[in-house]
Amino acid sequence: MADLVNLTIDGVAVAVPKGTLIVDAAKKLENNIPVFCYHPKLKPVGMCRMCLVEIGTPKVDPATKQVIKDDKGNVVIAWQPKLNTACTNPVSEGMAVRTATPVVDGARSDVLEFLLTSHPLDCPVCDKGGECPLQNLTLEHGPGISHFDYESKQHNAKHVPLGDLIFLDRERCIQCSRCIRFQDDIADDHVLQFHDRGRHMEIVTMSEPGFDSYFSGNTTDICPVGALTTADFRFKARPWELDHTPSLCTHCAVGCNLSLNTRLETRTGGHEIKRIMPRQNEQVNEIWTCDKGRFVHEFTSARERLTKPLVRKNGALVETGWDEALALIADKLQGAGSSVAGVVGDRVPNEDAYLFGKLFREVLHANNGRHPVQLGMSPSLPMHYADVARAHGLGVNADFKQLGKGDTILIVNGDVEEQAPVWFLRLRQAVVDRGAKLIIAHHRSTKMHRYASRIITYAPGNAAQWLASPDGALDELKEARNLVVVFGDEKCDPVNARGLALGLAGLITAAGHAGKQNSGLLPLYPHANTQGVYDMLGLETPGEDLQPPAAVSWTIGVGEPNDVPPSRASGAKPFAIVQELFLTEIAQQADVVLPVLSFAERDGSFTSGDRRVQRFYAGLPVAHGSQAKSDWWIFQEIARRLGVSWSFGTAAAIFGEMAGQVGYYVGLNYDGLGASETQWPPMGREDLYYGGTVYDNEGGIGVRYPTAVESGRAVSFKPVQLVTPSMGALSRPARRLYQNGELIGRSNVIGAHIEVTQ
Ligand code: SF4
Ligand code: SF4
Ligand code: FES
Repeated sequence: MADLVNLTIDGVAVAVPKGTLIVDAAKKLENNIPVFCYHPKLKPVGMCRMCLVEIGTPKVDPATKQVIKDDKGNVVIAWQPKLNTACTNPVSEGMAVRTATPVVDGARSDVLEFLLTSHPLDCPVCDKGGECPLQNLTLEHGPGISHFDYESKQHNAKHVPLGDLIFLDRERCIQCSRCIRFQDDIADDHVLQFHDRGRHMEIVTMSEPGFDSYFSGNTTDICPVGALTTADFRFKARPWELDHTPSLCTHCAVGCNLSLNTRLETRTGGHEIKRIMPRQNEQVNEIWTCDKGRFVHEFTSARERLTKPLVRKNGALVETGWDEALALIADKLQGAGSSVAGVVGDRVPNEDAYLFGKLFREVLHANNGRHPVQLGMSPSLPMHYADVARAHGLGVNADFKQLGKGDTILIVNGDVEEQAPVWFLRLRQAVVDRGAKLIIAHHRSTKMHRYASRIITYAPGNAAQWLASPDGALDELKEARNLVVVFGDEKCDPVNARGLALGLAGLITAAGHAGKQNSGLLPLYPHANTQGVYDMLGLETPGEDLQPPAAVSWTIGVGEPNDVPPSRASGAKPFAIVQELFLTEIAQQADVVLPVLSFAERDGSFTSGDRRVQRFYAGLPVAHGSQAKSDWWIFQEIARRLGVSWSFGTAAAIFGEMAGQVGYYVGLNYDGLGASETQWPPMGREDLYYGGTVYDNEGGIGVRYPTAVESGRAVSFKPVQLVTPSMGALSRPARRLYQNGELIGRSNVIGAHIEVTQ
């Protein structure tokens, strides 16, 4: 237990850890001291004076150094002669704070009156209206009148683009510097700064292109006024018109918790995502998202979404009904026997991947020695390493926030900012703010290199070879309190990627960190459910190539052509079934194409890269006229046509069965994943002034499943024989955040950032 300090706030006693600021101690008592510049995730600066309170400390006799007590035995408090800021002063033993006196009320009113002298009366047209701390605090504490001349207000041209994603309204800025401090202290992108002084002071961007950061959207959440607005939401809706649904990001393995803000559009007659906001989960993303997670959502309402099944007739794909498409598939599967191969993309939810695996195992009986289903994940096909990461991953109660002095973070062959941006923020803080040691081994430089105390290089594609050489011994890891090993597969051949994972697991064990809560492997998977799909398909023993499908190939939610295993089939082309959102390049070649629901129109669960199983919920109804279905519904209908009667009515029902069947998930339940717990510091709808417009954690914080060590499983892995890096692997570009793809490619907002790689 941290050292506790006792104090009273408005006469109410509270005990808080040493070092706690008065503003946060008051929050423990649900005493909301108003703030503008203070934010619980940023270092205090004491700039706005909104948090002024009366502070007193026990009076001490200078001669005896004893606390003075009055006739009744009460400690005499020496009150400071002036008001002081609750956001910069830490608590001390015996401190007394007054937050509700006439002098405090007067100060709050005065500060607001001053702020409003430069602030336009824009609320009716301001995007922040309805969720604006300045508006709310003015109603609660403001003067109601102004002594200042309206004509002396600032009148600037509106809406300066800071970049193409974020716009600035200079008059609205109250100069709190939250945006600058977020960019400097959390994102380490020094792209914003104040320019000029006094009433002319304004935010400017110093980067070229403007506001050049993967995390820019977060500044609009914590800006306490409508000075910063996003390109996708400004002038599009008012907050009170929006429905909000707990969801998850599908774009990388972090599993950021999100809220889908949706509305019925009279323009189109359909519901749309108007914006995506972070949802607080202190275990996963705290209150942050990267800009890809926030802005890449237009694909959900894209006109090109598939809405009806397609079958190939006379060489062309033509629309048909579900009955014809499903009957055709059932007929082909019956004729194919066990000669069916499936590929499942790693954005497909757990429930669907589980039912696909069950269909193969129990209905198609295709598992004749080789697993017929592969995880659609370039570049690690078919030799995967999710089993190694699962066995040697972080402990079930691991907490990024506990990493600090004495701990070592080793990053091998991974670019954390590009591949798991919010992990970049959190791991960086462990190093820069809390003193963890960072060692990086990579063939090229990454942003994380800025913080490394040791940098190791090797030839591209040779990460596993380097680790297996005497240079990879890294004896210093034994001295660490904990060892987190983050790794990626950039430019690795599949067998070498697996070899790297095995080598790193061995390194953790050899250094004495196996089984520790805050130690283990952290893989930089490409998408939201790489681990989950792997788990669901029961790919216990990867290592063999997927054999060319002789009769039927079945591709689920893969998206990119290079995520499909290279076909080595000779002779007859297999009958190809594709389930997709869009008529992708792969779908265009198929014999049957089935339209499926996106993550926004259905519920389900994903398993993050650190094995946290989390739920997402349906935020949009199925578009009018669309016949798209969940992948799992399709599998069930096909099973029925093959004579097996399943009766799963919901994703929850599938999860219920799965959690009794899939080893690592035994004991989890769907309701449990949806359970929330109190988050600290508290953020969300009631605390706009304090944390910003982040949503609270309704919908659940998820549950991490235990590693093999923790669940008492004996696991052993066959060593692999490393190969000389192939030209194919070496010429493959590094995975970047804005790499072009089927989903990001449909985002107009992020369009200018998309990188087209060959
Ligand atoms: S733009 Fe917003 S966050 Fe930035 S200084 Fe101005 S008011 Fe503060
Ligand atoms: S860090 Fe990953 S999961 Fe989080 S918002 Fe960005 S892409 Fe999505
Ligand atoms: S000075 Fe304390 S919140 Fe700004």
